[in-house]
Amino acid sequence: MSLRSQVTGCGAYLPDRVITNSELAVRLDTSDEWIRKRTGIGERRVAAPGELTSDLAYYAAQRALASAGMSGSDLDLLVLATATPDNTFPATAAKVQARLGMVRGAAFDVQAVCAGFIFALSVADNALRLGQARTAVVIGAETFSRILDWDDRGTCVLFGDGAGALVLKAVSVASPGGRFVLSNHLHSDGRQYDILYVDGGPSSSRGAGFLRMHGREVFRHAVQHLSAVIDEALEANQLTAAEIDWLVPHQANSRIIDAMGRKLGLSPDKIVMTIEQHANTSAASIPLALEAAVDDGRIKPGHLVLMEALGGGLSWGASLVRW
Ligand code: UT7
Repeated sequence: MSLRSQVTGCGAYLPDRVITNSELAVRLDTSDEWIRKRTGIGERRVAAPGELTSDLAYYAAQRALASAGMSGSDLDLLVLATATPDNTFPATAAKVQARLGMVRGAAFDVQAVCAGFIFALSVADNALRLGQARTAVVIGAETFSRILDWDDRGTCVLFGDGAGALVLKAVSVASPGGRFVLSNHLHSDGRQYDILYVDGGPSSSRGAGFLRMHGREVFRHAVQHLSAVIDEALEANQLTAAEIDWLVPHQANSRIIDAMGRKLGLSPDKIVMTIEQHANTSAASIPLALEAAVDDGRIKPGHLVLMEALGGGLSWGASLVRW
């Protein structure tokens, strides 16, 4: 018998305010046509003034707990993936922990930018497998609108705010084939630090800074690394692409997602795409997409779900879950 992590709940939250491509085109040299064609994005959500990453994270976690039939006091681990914390410290997770009424265990942030949800899921899965915790919530929450240079058409059109969360429970497993997290594969290459970064932060400047990206370079690395990590995940589990029920990718660019779908030989109706409505919500994009596909009945218990993401660092990874 070994301990594994079973997904028992899923939830998401989006701020009310919608900004369409056409609205951006009123004050920037861009167009709905360019943004849709090059990225697949149609609109994005933006947090209201005073609405913080912790607020988004709290609502998503609360909904995930409700879907699991649990409350915050049942949790003994909270891992929050974010690159846009409320404050430099403490961890935004601590604020969410208090609001959820979770009074034992540990709560901390994980920072791997757009790959953050995969990294956080891996950290929580390891803790459950080792018996360090029995119930965990893994949250991806971001307010990238606060670190965008709204005059830079090359970046500000790409991102949105949002949050999503999964609840995990440790289960005793006697044999393979059950419903649990099968594997997580993580990678980083710090030599690429400068192709996607924020030009501020407590140790390097006074302000929070703005996101800067060499888009074409990131695109090239994304296709190469995501392709490799998908192979790694399938091989490690002795699975073939034909056995995957759903690809739930990080939503950075529909052209990257299409390339991964082609690589796997998956028909487009097996790929969960939310980029048109959400844009790139960094660490929140995968749990937001999971929630959408669970909510409308696409992802069902027993389905094999493959997730992959790449972001600043560079950092990237893949998780396979038997839902
Ligand atoms: O989530 C973290 C990981 N991030 C990613 O994976 C993002 C990866 N990169 C990308 O998705 C794409 O590189 C972008 C969507 C960021 C850019 O698409 P691209 O096809 O690589 O465009 P580009 O940067 O090569 O720019 C092509 C042209 C340029 O004009 P010139 O130099 O050819 O005259 C840009 O100035 O498009 C121009 N451009 C725009 N035009 C209209 C850039 N942004 C815009 C815009 N509207 N918003």
